[in-house]
Amino acid sequence: MAILITGGCGYIGSHTCIEMIKAGYDIVVLDNYYNSKPEALNRTRELAGKDFPFYECDIRDAEGLRRIFKENKIEAVIHFAGLKAVGESVQIPLKYYDNNVNGTVVLCQVMAEMGCKRMIFSSSATVYGEKNPSPLTEDMEIGGCTNPYGRTKFMIEGILSDLCVSDPEWSVVLLRYFNPIGAHESGRIGEDPNGIPNNLMPYVSQVAIGKLARLSIFGDDYDTPDGTGVRDFIHVVDLARGHVKATDYALAHTGAEAVNLGTGTGYSVLDLVNAFKEANGVDVPYVIVDRRPGDLGAVYSDPSKAASLLGWKAEKGLEDMCRDSWRWQSQNPKGYAE
Ligand code: NAD
Ligand code: WQD
Repeated sequence: MAILITGGCGYIGSHTCIEMIKAGYDIVVLDNYYNSKPEALNRTRELAGKDFPFYECDIRDAEGLRRIFKENKIEAVIHFAGLKAVGESVQIPLKYYDNNVNGTVVLCQVMAEMGCKRMIFSSSATVYGEKNPSPLTEDMEIGGCTNPYGRTKFMIEGILSDLCVSDPEWSVVLLRYFNPIGAHESGRIGEDPNGIPNNLMPYVSQVAIGKLARLSIFGDDYDTPDGTGVRDFIHVVDLARGHVKATDYALAHTGAEAVNLGTGTGYSVLDLVNAFKEANGVDVPYVIVDRRPGDLGAVYSDPSKAASLLGWKAEKGLEDMCRDSWRWQSQNPKGYAE
């Protein structure tokens, strides 16, 4: 029996493939390479030390999915495939609803048809919306998302929960990620954004390597200790290990469970910049600019449910995240393009 990993060539997916294989799972990977490159797959196979089947396939292609299920014995799906650029989702919402929401519906239809009813889904802290205060707990009411991307995650959580109510054989773990950063400690795989990064850590790394002149820090007048935004940064390898624990759980239970994957500790943008400089001995010039529309002051998790339900806890600290992000960036200044 194997676990199908959709979006397995992406940033979080590639790290998860390695941790799943390390934990003894057989995996099958699917990706349409919309936001990833074949080189990520080559390196993931190399780091895993084991080959696994790969299908270049879109999750909206029901016939392509059927073939994967027919050619492999799939007992559960870890579902990463999706579009994730917040700003872009405001410009082209239909593309996001089609890819993320429709894609997940097609995937679930084929899964049900093939008798595979276990899914670990990549949700996001963004489903908590603007109103809930941190630390965020899974029992808080979700919704009130500020952009179409966030709404796709909110809608998919609802769809998957409805599915579990309709059919008690379904088992779904909704993993709400906080801010994944860092890279595999080998420096061989990591986050490879297209164009100018939207997220903080890839931006900081590209400033440090001289590709971008300086970081713009979006606001220093939030109600936080130093005025800059506070986030729950989590090392991508810790996050990947959370998927191993969630898979163990989904194979042994039914019903839907939402689980936060974060460290529970909030660090500010300036904390991260200073930790990055110190851990790596590099300079990161910055300038304070206006707040970015839609941003919140402090967002961090209460990770206790992940500990009690899954037996998972983040182990890596901010220094590891900064060191590993820089190793990836400095060893691969052009990402996977080289
Ligand atoms: P990523 O873009 O690196 O990986 C997603 C992968 O899915 C890519 O390889 C892409 O080519 C593939 N894909 C997209 N649409 C597809 C489709 N229709 N069919 C097949 N493959 C498709 O993103 P990531 O950072 O690894 O994120 C993985 C998941 O986690 C996403 O669903 C994302 O929304 C979610 N998430 C990410 C973050 C984050 O900050 N990175 C935070 C919360 C949630
Ligand atoms: C972090 C902090 C910025 C860039 C986003 C999505 C969320 C989730 C994770 C997918 C904030 C500040 C950033 C920069 C800055 N993704 N910042 N200068 O916004 O917390 O979350 O990614 O689900 O849905 O919204 O992450 O890395 O963009 O920002 O000052 O150039 O860094 O204002 O305080 P965010 P981020």
